[in-house]
Amino acid sequence: MTHITDSIAQRLLDEAKLARETSYAPYSGCRVGAALLTSTGKIYRGCNIENAAFGPTVCAERVALFKAISEGVHHFSAIAVVGGKAETTSGLFPPCGVCRQVLREFCAPEEMTVILEQEDGTPYMLTLADLLPHSFGPDFL
Ligand code: THU
Repeated sequence: MTHITDSIAQRLLDEAKLARETSYAPYSGCRVGAALLTSTGKIYRGCNIENAAFGPTVCAERVALFKAISEGVHHFSAIAVVGGKAETTSGLFPPCGVCRQVLREFCAPEEMTVILEQEDGTPYMLTLADLLPHSFGPDFL
């Protein structure tokens, strides 16, 4: 995995918490924030955006990723994700399967670091490959 220091990971968790503040989640009450680090050091924030028809709901991770892709940015090194129903976040909030697959489209699984928040507030880091082993991606087509 790309080396992400504890201080960068902590900064990304803080950015994800800021992103979470604008979460639109009136139906589930589950508010999620993500902070995506590009290979040039820029950070894209995303929050989950729900919908009365439920199906169109988009996760925080995909909002952050699509913001970057829509601006022509395609190289990433890490993503931090925080969420939950409580006012403050604590404990691992792992990306859903759909977000793992969408990240897989743009990120090398062994290189992409996923940062989650532990109960004590410190970062827990793993790779996209850990979360999505034996994955299917663009290289198969
Ligand atoms: N959610 C995310 O934003 N990211 C995930 O990886 C898991 C789920 C959101 C979607 C929905 O608004 C709420 O959390 C409950 O599923």
